[in-house]
Amino acid sequence: MKIVVIGGTGLIGSKTVAILRQGGHEVVAASPNSGVNTITGEGVKEAVAGAQVVIDLANSPSFEDKAVLEFFETAGRNLLTAEAAAGVRHHIALSIVGIDRSDNGYFRAKIAQEKLIVASGIPYTIIRSTQFLEFLRAIADSSADGNVVRISPGLFQPIAADDVAASVAEVALAAPRNGIVEIAGPERAPFNEIVARYLKAVGDQRQIVRDPEARYYGGRVEERSLVPLGEARPGHIGLDGWLRRSKARA
Ligand SMILES: NC(=O)c1ccc[n+]([C@@H]2O[C@H](COP(=O)([O-])OP(=O)(O)OC[C@H]3O[C@@H](n4cnc5c(N)ncnc54)[C@H](OP(=O)(O)O)[C@@H]3O)[C@@H](O)[C@H]2O)c1
Repeated sequence: MKIVVIGGTGLIGSKTVAILRQGGHEVVAASPNSGVNTITGEGVKEAVAGAQVVIDLANSPSFEDKAVLEFFETAGRNLLTAEAAAGVRHHIALSIVGIDRSDNGYFRAKIAQEKLIVASGIPYTIIRSTQFLEFLRAIADSSADGNVVRISPGLFQPIAADDVAASVAEVALAAPRNGIVEIAGPERAPFNEIVARYLKAVGDQRQIVRDPEARYYGGRVEERSLVPLGEARPGHIGLDGWLRRSKARA
């Protein structure tokens, strides 16, 4: 089966490509560096020709509100138009748990991406994931003011990129759900506690402050804003296991 992974060189994309290739599938790892650009449209038609499945794992180079919205809208339109013309039978995209429960510019852009998929008429599965463990440092940095990192005590359930990629590959080989599936890590705990454990483990001296008013990229975080409300496919790798693996790889 021919499977195209848009953003196939990224964190989740490269892991997903490796799993699918191991399974013997013909996988195209598409990205601007390989001549496939969903913003300009360059190489998109050629990449999706003859593909049964397209997995969109691209991300915006800028997280600024307007830029990220433009990225997901333009890329989504260009890609879905090419897929419809090529007769693609399953479109998969990686979205985020809780994008309709907390409000920030990045979440609004992901909602726009999801709406385009639902309206496209192409059979689809949207995978909503919680935050990646690999993203913890960026979260701490974005919440820092000097040596103080303010984080909400709302619940948090991060997932390792390896677990995300395993789920994405599994969904790609299954029938389209024409709906949303959710995935999350094996541990659920207050956001501030998980970030504090992470910073301590990596020797980051910054002080974590539990602050119910602390925003997540501008959005309020209530107790259940960022965790699945219903059933979610659980990952296997928790924070401690992930830290051990990361140290072993370093
Ligand atoms: N971070 C989180 O916690 C989280 C949680 C849930 C869902 N997600 C979603 O997961 C997805 C993947 O994230 P990631 O962290 O794996 O991304 P990433 O590592 O930043 O990789 C982004 C990929 O997108 C490609 N790309 C950028 N511009 C492109 C364009 N114009 N056309 C085609 N490809 C383009 C990049 O190609 P180059 O290598 O050539 O630049 C790269 O392969 C995103 O959609 C994100 O919203 C993230």
